[in-house]
Amino acid sequence: MTQSTEQTRPTLIDGMGRKIVNLRISVTDRCNFRCTYCMPADNVEFMERGELLSFEEITRIARIVSSMGINRLRLTGGEPTMRKDLPKLIRMLDAVDGIDDIAMTTNAFFLKDQANDLKEAGLQRLNVSLDALDKEKFRHVNRRDCLEQVLEGLKAASKAGFKSIKINAVAVKNFSETEILRLIEMGRSDGFEIRFIEFMPLDSDQVWERDKVLFGHEILDIIKAKYELVPISNSLEIGPASEYNFADGKGKIGIITAVSNPFCDHCNRIRMTADGKLRTCLFSTSEYDLKKLIRSEATDADIVETILGAVALKEPGHKINLDDFERPTRAMHAIGG
Ligand code: 5AD
Ligand code: SF4
Repeated sequence: MTQSTEQTRPTLIDGMGRKIVNLRISVTDRCNFRCTYCMPADNVEFMERGELLSFEEITRIARIVSSMGINRLRLTGGEPTMRKDLPKLIRMLDAVDGIDDIAMTTNAFFLKDQANDLKEAGLQRLNVSLDALDKEKFRHVNRRDCLEQVLEGLKAASKAGFKSIKINAVAVKNFSETEILRLIEMGRSDGFEIRFIEFMPLDSDQVWERDKVLFGHEILDIIKAKYELVPISNSLEIGPASEYNFADGKGKIGIITAVSNPFCDHCNRIRMTADGKLRTCLFSTSEYDLKKLIRSEATDADIVETILGAVALKEPGHKINLDDFERPTRAMHAIGG
Protein backbone atom coordinates (compact mmCIF):
# COMPACT_ATOMS: atom_id res chain seq x y z
CA MET A 1 0.00 0.00 0.00
CA THR A 2 1.25 3.47 -0.82
CA GLN A 3 0.79 6.68 1.09
CA SER A 4 0.72 10.08 -0.54
CA THR A 5 0.91 13.45 1.07
CA GLU A 6 -2.68 14.40 0.22
CA GLN A 7 -4.08 11.05 1.20
CA THR A 8 -3.93 10.17 4.81
CA ARG A 9 -5.14 6.64 4.08
CA PRO A 10 -3.79 3.75 2.03
CA THR A 11 -4.69 3.72 -1.66
CA LEU A 12 -7.03 0.97 -2.80
CA ILE A 13 -4.90 -1.50 -4.71
CA ASP A 14 -6.12 -5.06 -4.95
CA GLY A 15 -4.23 -8.33 -4.83
CA MET A 16 -3.76 -8.24 -8.62
CA GLY A 17 -2.28 -4.74 -8.56
CA ARG A 18 -5.44 -3.10 -9.94
CA LYS A 19 -6.00 0.41 -8.59
CA ILE A 20 -9.62 0.95 -7.59
CA VAL A 21 -10.82 4.44 -8.49
CA ASN A 22 -14.50 3.88 -9.13
CA LEU A 23 -17.39 3.18 -6.74
CA ARG A 24 -20.82 2.26 -8.07
CA ILE A 25 -23.50 3.10 -5.58
CA SER A 26 -26.92 1.49 -5.88
CA VAL A 27 -29.48 3.83 -4.31
CA THR A 28 -32.54 1.55 -4.60
CA ASP A 29 -33.35 -1.95 -5.81
CA ARG A 30 -36.75 -0.73 -7.04
CA CYS A 31 -37.51 -0.23 -10.70
CA ASN A 32 -40.53 0.73 -12.76
CA PHE A 33 -39.37 -1.58 -15.59
CA ARG A 34 -39.09 -5.35 -15.54
CA CYS A 35 -36.39 -5.97 -18.15
CA THR A 36 -36.23 -9.67 -19.00
CA TYR A 37 -32.44 -9.80 -18.57
CA CYS A 38 -32.65 -8.34 -15.08
CA MET A 39 -35.91 -8.71 -13.15
CA PRO A 40 -38.75 -11.21 -12.95
CA ALA A 41 -42.11 -10.19 -14.49
CA ASP A 42 -43.83 -9.91 -11.11
CA ASN A 43 -43.72 -10.79 -7.41
CA VAL A 44 -40.47 -8.99 -6.77
CA GLU A 45 -39.47 -8.71 -3.15
CA PHE A 46 -37.88 -5.35 -2.57
CA MET A 47 -35.73 -4.21 0.32
CA GLU A 48 -37.48 -2.62 3.28
CA ARG A 49 -37.03 1.15 3.16
CA GLY A 50 -35.24 1.16 6.51
CA GLU A 51 -32.65 -1.19 5.01
CA LEU A 52 -31.58 1.42 2.46
CA LEU A 53 -28.60 3.54 3.37
CA SER A 54 -29.59 7.14 4.05
CA PHE A 55 -28.00 9.96 2.04
CA GLU A 56 -25.84 10.79 5.06
CA GLU A 57 -24.66 7.18 5.30
CA ILE A 58 -23.88 7.00 1.58
CA THR A 59 -21.98 10.28 1.80
CA ARG A 60 -19.94 9.05 4.74
CA ILE A 61 -18.82 6.04 2.69
CA ALA A 62 -18.06 8.31 -0.28
CA ARG A 63 -15.92 10.51 1.95
CA ILE A 64 -14.01 7.50 3.26
CA VAL A 65 -13.38 5.93 -0.15
CA SER A 66 -12.40 9.24 -1.70
CA SER A 67 -9.69 9.52 0.93
CA MET A 68 -8.45 6.16 -0.41
CA GLY A 69 -8.17 7.31 -4.01
CA ILE A 70 -11.65 6.76 -5.41
CA ASN A 71 -12.53 9.81 -7.49
CA ARG A 72 -15.39 8.55 -9.65
CA LEU A 73 -18.88 7.62 -8.55
CA ARG A 74 -21.76 6.10 -10.48
CA LEU A 75 -25.30 5.97 -9.15
CA THR A 76 -27.25 2.88 -10.14
CA GLY A 77 -30.37 1.03 -9.10
CA GLY A 78 -32.73 -0.66 -9.73
CA GLU A 79 -33.73 2.64 -11.21
CA PRO A 80 -31.90 5.41 -9.32
CA THR A 81 -34.39 8.12 -10.27
CA MET A 82 -37.00 6.29 -8.19
CA ARG A 83 -35.11 7.28 -5.06
CA LYS A 84 -36.76 10.34 -3.59
CA ASP A 85 -34.75 13.60 -3.63
CA LEU A 86 -31.90 12.12 -5.67
CA PRO A 87 -30.53 15.59 -6.60
CA LYS A 88 -29.99 16.20 -2.90
CA LEU A 89 -27.73 13.12 -2.69
CA ILE A 90 -25.86 14.23 -5.79
CA ARG A 91 -25.23 17.62 -4.23
CA MET A 92 -23.91 15.96 -1.08
CA LEU A 93 -21.62 13.68 -3.08
CA ASP A 94 -20.44 16.50 -5.30
CA ALA A 95 -19.30 18.35 -2.20
CA VAL A 96 -17.05 15.48 -1.11
CA ASP A 97 -13.36 16.35 -1.51
CA GLY A 98 -11.67 14.32 -4.22
CA ILE A 99 -14.76 13.29 -6.17
CA ASP A 100 -14.18 14.46 -9.76
CA ASP A 101 -16.94 12.67 -11.61
CA ILE A 102 -20.48 11.59 -10.82
CA ALA A 103 -22.37 9.50 -13.38
CA MET A 104 -25.65 7.60 -13.36
CA THR A 105 -27.13 4.61 -15.15
CA THR A 106 -30.86 5.03 -15.77
CA ASN A 107 -33.75 3.75 -17.87
CA ALA A 108 -34.55 7.42 -18.68
CA PHE A 109 -38.27 7.09 -17.92
CA PHE A 110 -38.26 9.94 -15.39
CA LEU A 111 -35.64 12.10 -17.09
CA LYS A 112 -38.22 14.27 -18.77
CA ASP A 113 -38.99 15.75 -15.35
CA GLN A 114 -35.67 15.23 -13.60
CA ALA A 115 -32.86 15.82 -16.12
CA ASN A 116 -32.37 19.52 -15.35
CA ASP A 117 -32.38 19.11 -11.59
CA LEU A 118 -29.94 16.20 -11.77
CA LYS A 119 -27.56 18.13 -14.00
CA GLU A 120 -27.76 21.21 -11.83
CA ALA A 121 -27.03 19.14 -8.72
CA GLY A 122 -23.70 18.03 -10.20
CA LEU A 123 -24.44 14.88 -12.19
CA GLN A 124 -22.02 14.94 -15.11
CA ARG A 125 -22.63 11.86 -17.24
CA LEU A 126 -25.47 9.52 -18.05
CA ASN A 127 -25.75 5.99 -19.33
CA VAL A 128 -29.23 5.26 -20.58
CA SER A 129 -30.46 1.67 -20.97
CA LEU A 130 -32.22 1.29 -24.31
CA ASP A 131 -32.24 -2.06 -26.03
CA ALA A 132 -34.73 -1.62 -28.85
CA LEU A 133 -36.19 1.18 -30.97
CA ASP A 134 -38.99 -0.98 -32.25
CA LYS A 135 -41.98 -0.32 -29.99
CA GLU A 136 -43.01 -3.98 -29.78
CA LYS A 137 -39.50 -5.18 -29.16
CA PHE A 138 -39.06 -2.56 -26.46
CA ARG A 139 -42.26 -3.77 -24.78
CA HIS A 140 -41.10 -7.34 -25.04
CA VAL A 141 -37.63 -6.88 -23.55
CA ASN A 142 -38.45 -4.20 -20.97
CA ARG A 143 -41.94 -5.54 -20.23
CA ARG A 144 -43.30 -1.99 -20.32
CA ASP A 145 -44.91 -0.11 -23.19
CA CYS A 146 -42.97 3.09 -22.80
CA LEU A 147 -40.50 3.62 -25.61
CA GLU A 148 -41.98 7.11 -26.17
CA GLN A 149 -41.33 8.24 -22.58
CA VAL A 150 -37.78 6.95 -22.75
CA LEU A 151 -37.12 8.84 -25.98
CA GLU A 152 -38.58 11.98 -24.43
CA GLY A 153 -36.35 11.44 -21.40
CA LEU A 154 -33.35 11.18 -23.68
CA LYS A 155 -34.33 14.37 -25.43
CA ALA A 156 -34.63 16.19 -22.11
CA ALA A 157 -31.24 14.85 -21.07
CA SER A 158 -29.68 16.08 -24.31
CA LYS A 159 -31.06 19.54 -23.69
CA ALA A 160 -29.86 19.58 -20.08
CA GLY A 161 -26.25 19.56 -21.31
CA PHE A 162 -24.62 16.53 -19.68
CA LYS A 163 -20.95 16.01 -20.47
CA SER A 164 -21.77 12.69 -22.10
CA ILE A 165 -24.78 10.48 -22.73
CA LYS A 166 -24.14 6.87 -23.65
CA ILE A 167 -26.74 4.27 -24.47
CA ASN A 168 -26.43 0.72 -23.14
CA ALA A 169 -28.12 -1.99 -25.16
CA VAL A 170 -28.02 -5.55 -23.86
CA ALA A 171 -27.24 -7.85 -26.79
CA VAL A 172 -29.46 -10.91 -26.94
CA LYS A 173 -29.32 -13.47 -29.75
CA ASN A 174 -32.32 -13.61 -32.10
CA PHE A 175 -33.54 -10.34 -30.66
CA SER A 176 -31.01 -7.53 -30.88
CA GLU A 177 -29.87 -8.10 -34.47
CA THR A 178 -32.62 -5.89 -35.92
CA GLU A 179 -31.99 -3.09 -33.42
CA ILE A 180 -28.25 -2.64 -33.84
CA LEU A 181 -28.21 -0.42 -36.92
CA ARG A 182 -31.30 1.48 -35.80
CA LEU A 183 -29.68 2.35 -32.49
CA ILE A 184 -26.45 3.28 -34.21
CA GLU A 185 -28.22 5.59 -36.61
CA MET A 186 -29.96 7.34 -33.74
CA GLY A 187 -26.66 7.61 -31.87
CA ARG A 188 -24.89 9.12 -34.85
CA SER A 189 -27.57 11.68 -35.50
CA ASP A 190 -28.24 12.65 -31.87
CA GLY A 191 -24.69 12.46 -30.48
CA PHE A 192 -24.94 9.38 -28.24
CA GLU A 193 -22.31 6.66 -28.07
CA ILE A 194 -24.15 3.33 -28.33
CA ARG A 195 -22.62 0.51 -26.31
CA PHE A 196 -23.69 -3.07 -26.80
CA ILE A 197 -23.30 -5.33 -23.76
CA GLU A 198 -23.24 -9.08 -24.11
CA PHE A 199 -26.13 -10.56 -22.11
CA MET A 200 -24.72 -11.82 -18.79
CA PRO A 201 -26.11 -14.50 -16.44
CA LEU A 202 -27.60 -11.99 -14.00
CA ASP A 203 -31.28 -12.31 -14.89
CA SER A 204 -33.67 -13.15 -12.05
CA ASP A 205 -35.54 -15.56 -14.30
CA GLN A 206 -32.32 -17.54 -14.76
CA VAL A 207 -33.00 -18.21 -18.43
CA TRP A 208 -29.50 -17.10 -19.45
CA GLU A 209 -27.56 -19.54 -21.54
CA ARG A 210 -24.58 -19.06 -23.80
CA ASP A 211 -26.74 -19.57 -26.89
CA LYS A 212 -28.78 -16.50 -25.93
CA VAL A 213 -25.80 -14.15 -26.04
CA LEU A 214 -25.26 -12.08 -29.15
CA PHE A 215 -21.48 -11.96 -29.11
CA GLY A 216 -19.32 -8.93 -29.76
CA HIS A 217 -17.90 -10.29 -32.99
CA GLU A 218 -21.44 -10.91 -34.30
CA ILE A 219 -22.43 -7.36 -33.41
CA LEU A 220 -19.36 -6.02 -35.20
CA ASP A 221 -20.16 -8.08 -38.31
CA ILE A 222 -23.61 -6.47 -38.51
CA ILE A 223 -22.17 -2.98 -38.10
CA LYS A 224 -19.26 -3.49 -40.48
CA ALA A 225 -21.60 -4.60 -43.24
CA LYS A 226 -22.72 -0.97 -43.36
CA TYR A 227 -20.05 1.17 -41.71
CA GLU A 228 -16.28 1.26 -41.69
CA LEU A 229 -14.96 1.26 -38.13
CA VAL A 230 -11.61 2.35 -36.75
CA PRO A 231 -10.65 0.74 -33.42
CA ILE A 232 -9.68 3.17 -30.66
CA SER A 233 -6.49 1.80 -29.17
CA ASN A 234 -6.32 1.33 -25.39
CA SER A 235 -10.06 1.85 -24.88
CA LEU A 236 -10.15 -1.32 -22.77
CA GLU A 237 -7.62 0.15 -20.39
CA ILE A 238 -9.88 3.11 -19.73
CA GLY A 239 -13.27 1.41 -19.45
CA PRO A 240 -15.12 -1.85 -20.05
CA ALA A 241 -15.87 -1.20 -23.73
CA SER A 242 -13.81 -1.82 -26.85
CA GLU A 243 -14.50 1.38 -28.69
CA TYR A 244 -14.52 2.19 -32.40
CA ASN A 245 -14.79 5.46 -34.28
CA PHE A 246 -16.85 5.56 -37.44
CA ALA A 247 -14.37 6.07 -40.28
CA ASP A 248 -16.47 8.98 -41.57
CA GLY A 249 -15.77 10.81 -38.31
CA LYS A 250 -19.38 10.81 -37.14
CA GLY A 251 -19.48 9.36 -33.63
CA LYS A 252 -18.29 6.16 -32.01
CA ILE A 253 -19.58 2.90 -30.60
CA GLY A 254 -18.54 0.54 -27.83
CA ILE A 255 -18.80 -3.21 -27.43
CA ILE A 256 -18.70 -4.70 -23.95
CA THR A 257 -17.71 -8.32 -24.39
CA ALA A 258 -18.55 -9.15 -20.79
CA VAL A 259 -18.90 -12.84 -21.64
CA SER A 260 -16.63 -13.56 -24.61
CA ASN A 261 -13.68 -11.38 -23.60
CA PRO A 262 -14.18 -9.87 -20.14
CA PHE A 263 -12.31 -6.73 -19.12
CA CYS A 264 -11.59 -8.07 -15.62
CA ASP A 265 -7.83 -7.49 -15.96
CA HIS A 266 -8.46 -3.75 -16.12
CA CYS A 267 -11.38 -3.59 -13.70
CA ASN A 268 -11.03 -0.56 -11.45
CA ARG A 269 -14.40 -0.62 -9.71
CA ILE A 270 -16.17 -1.81 -6.62
CA ARG A 271 -19.87 -1.63 -5.80
CA MET A 272 -22.11 -0.87 -2.88
CA THR A 273 -25.67 -2.20 -2.83
CA ALA A 274 -28.59 -0.06 -1.69
CA ASP A 275 -28.58 -1.92 1.63
CA GLY A 276 -24.94 -1.08 2.19
CA LYS A 277 -23.14 -4.27 1.18
CA LEU A 278 -19.77 -3.86 -0.46
CA ARG A 279 -19.21 -6.11 -3.49
CA THR A 280 -15.86 -6.32 -5.22
CA CYS A 281 -17.29 -7.87 -8.42
CA LEU A 282 -20.67 -8.02 -10.20
CA PHE A 283 -20.38 -11.77 -9.75
CA SER A 284 -19.18 -11.80 -6.13
CA THR A 285 -20.63 -14.58 -4.06
CA SER A 286 -19.72 -12.84 -0.81
CA GLU A 287 -20.29 -9.31 0.48
CA TYR A 288 -19.03 -7.02 3.22
CA ASP A 289 -21.65 -5.44 5.45
CA LEU A 290 -20.81 -1.73 5.59
CA LYS A 291 -24.29 -0.83 6.80
CA LYS A 292 -23.83 -2.91 9.92
CA LEU A 293 -20.59 -1.07 10.61
CA ILE A 294 -22.09 2.35 9.95
CA ARG A 295 -25.05 1.66 12.18
CA SER A 296 -22.83 0.47 15.01
CA GLU A 297 -20.20 2.54 16.74
CA ALA A 298 -17.62 1.77 14.05
CA THR A 299 -15.08 4.52 13.43
CA ASP A 300 -13.96 5.60 9.97
CA ALA A 301 -10.76 3.65 10.63
CA ASP A 302 -12.80 0.46 11.17
CA ILE A 303 -14.60 1.03 7.88
CA VAL A 304 -11.30 1.72 6.10
CA GLU A 305 -9.97 -1.57 7.39
CA THR A 306 -12.99 -3.52 6.10
CA ILE A 307 -12.79 -1.87 2.68
CA LEU A 308 -9.05 -2.53 2.44
CA GLY A 309 -9.57 -6.17 3.39
CA ALA A 310 -12.35 -6.55 0.81
CA VAL A 311 -10.36 -4.92 -1.98
CA ALA A 312 -7.29 -7.04 -1.21
CA LEU A 313 -9.45 -10.08 -1.97
CA LYS A 314 -11.15 -8.66 -5.08
CA GLU A 315 -11.84 -11.52 -7.49
CA PRO A 316 -9.28 -11.77 -10.32
CA GLY A 317 -12.17 -12.13 -12.74
CA HIS A 318 -15.61 -13.65 -13.23
CA LYS A 319 -15.96 -17.32 -14.03
CA ILE A 320 -18.83 -17.28 -16.54
CA ASN A 321 -16.67 -19.27 -18.94
CA LEU A 322 -15.46 -21.82 -16.38
CA ASP A 323 -17.05 -25.00 -15.07
CA ASP A 324 -17.14 -23.77 -11.49
CA PHE A 325 -19.14 -20.61 -12.32
CA GLU A 326 -21.64 -19.80 -9.60
CA ARG A 327 -24.44 -17.29 -10.22
CA PRO A 328 -24.57 -14.54 -7.60
CA THR A 329 -27.66 -14.91 -5.43
CA ARG A 330 -28.64 -11.28 -6.00
CA ALA A 331 -30.12 -10.31 -9.36
CA MET A 332 -28.84 -7.29 -11.26
CA HIS A 333 -31.47 -4.87 -9.93
CA ALA A 334 -30.41 -5.64 -6.35
CA ILE A 335 -26.69 -5.40 -7.11
CA GLY A 336 -26.71 -2.24 -9.21
CA GLY A 337 -25.84 -2.23 -12.91
N1 5AD B 1 -26.56 -8.62 -18.90
C1 5AD B 1 -25.95 -7.51 -19.39
N2 5AD B 1 -26.26 -6.26 -18.99
C2 5AD B 1 -27.23 -6.13 -18.08
N3 5AD B 1 -27.76 -5.04 -17.52
C3 5AD B 1 -28.73 -5.43 -16.66
N4 5AD B 1 -28.83 -6.76 -16.65
C4 5AD B 1 -27.91 -7.23 -17.54
C5 5AD B 1 -27.54 -8.52 -17.98
N5 5AD B 1 -28.14 -9.63 -17.51
C6 5AD B 1 -27.33 -3.68 -17.82
C7 5AD B 1 -28.38 -2.89 -18.55
C8 5AD B 1 -28.47 -1.62 -17.80
C9 5AD B 1 -27.52 -1.71 -16.66
C10 5AD B 1 -28.21 -1.33 -15.42
O1 5AD B 1 -27.08 -3.04 -16.60
O2 5AD B 1 -27.96 -2.52 -19.81
O3 5AD B 1 -28.04 -0.54 -18.59
FE1 SF4 C 1 -34.92 -1.77 -14.21
FE2 SF4 C 1 -32.49 -1.42 -15.19
FE3 SF4 C 1 -33.23 -3.86 -14.35
FE4 SF4 C 1 -34.34 -2.82 -16.54
S1 SF4 C 1 -32.14 -3.34 -16.23
S2 SF4 C 1 -35.45 -3.82 -14.84
S3 SF4 C 1 -34.43 -0.66 -16.09
S4 SF4 C 1 -32.98 -2.07 -13.09
